[in-house]
Amino acid sequence: MSMNTFGHLFRVTTWGESHGPALGATVDGCPPGVEIDEATLQHWLDRRKPGQNKFTTQRREPDEVRILSGLFEGRTTGTPVQLMIENTDQRSKDYGDIAEKFRPGHADITYWQKYGIRDYRGGGRSSARETAARVAAGGLARAALATLAPQIEITGYMVQVGPHGIDRSAMDMTEIENNPFWCPDAKAAEGWADYLDGLRKAGDSVGAVIEVIARGVPSGLGAPIYGKLDTDLAAAAMSINAVKAVEIGEGMASAALRGSENADEIAMGPDGPVYSSNHAGGILGGISTGQDIVLRFAVKPTSSILTERRTITKSGEDTTIITKGRHDPCVGIRAVPVGEAMVACVLLDHLLLHRGQVGENQGQIG
Ligand SMILES: Cc1cc2nc3c(=O)[nH]c(=O)nc-3n(C[C@H](O)[C@H](O)[C@H](O)COP(=O)(O)O)c2cc1C
Repeated sequence: MSMNTFGHLFRVTTWGESHGPALGATVDGCPPGVEIDEATLQHWLDRRKPGQNKFTTQRREPDEVRILSGLFEGRTTGTPVQLMIENTDQRSKDYGDIAEKFRPGHADITYWQKYGIRDYRGGGRSSARETAARVAAGGLARAALATLAPQIEITGYMVQVGPHGIDRSAMDMTEIENNPFWCPDAKAAEGWADYLDGLRKAGDSVGAVIEVIARGVPSGLGAPIYGKLDTDLAAAAMSINAVKAVEIGEGMASAALRGSENADEIAMGPDGPVYSSNHAGGILGGISTGQDIVLRFAVKPTSSILTERRTITKSGEDTTIITKGRHDPCVGIRAVPVGEAMVACVLLDHLLLHRGQVGENQGQIG
């Protein structure tokens, strides 16, 4: 299987399966001299790891990351950085049923149709355990950004669970770390807890919408046409398991706006252009404006559920399936740190591309 790599200069290749001995990421193109250690990467992995509360899968993986190469005396050397996370809490017997049957909504059927062989244990390569490797690579990207563009801040949070959205007027970013949902609206988080409890008990699941904001991104990142920053951000978000839609800025809602409402007006401020609004989500013509970059993505409901569903076996017989085992009732919760990691990787990649092509020679205004 090819196509396991993303990025142009900061290139991340992930490897491994859910129930193999380990999985990880090989990161090539990280700038030299970046200070990094396992504890720093662990901080980001701990935010994604399973079993932290009753709203995420009860699989208990410490997700301990090891750095195997590319480091000397605590700093990157510019050579490939190999990141490895051991799988320690596999229960392959939980997955006996899906060896023969295809879970509706999961990748079992398409992996089989494509390859004619699949590691069904825990979903194999299609398991979202793979996203632990992305979070480790994202931690390295964040460390590089902290050196090259320390003003950049990347924050992810959930804005909708099932049909229940946050109240934007009640948004308080300091609340994000105070509830299990990375929710900036404390009242909405309380409602989500009851709602998800009910769903979990009923053996069902639900989808969610995650928003990631990147502040302090300099203007000029991205390139016209095939190298657009929004193209790469959208591809990065869409590559996350269960993601079915991606929006930048106003996104789908921009279709309902008039030009006079949508175009963000520009005025000259003391330090450069100031925009009256940010419908563009911080990107025009594929190039960052210097405003906040706003990305949203929707994840579908977890397809491995305890509710009986109709399906077929590998040999083509009609049957039904109930997926036991340990699954997230809403994968959106653990998708938040994954979304942040993907944004960090893409921004670092584009920062390096920009430095390579343009250096300091940016167009001046005023
Ligand atoms: C953080 C995270 C955790 C996930 N956990 C589960 C899970 O426990 N059970 C499940 O069926 N799907 C889970 N998924 C979704 C599947 O990995 C995904 O639906 C599957 O790979 C098929 O790919 P697709 O949904 O992108 O088509 C998770 C996704 C994410 C982002």
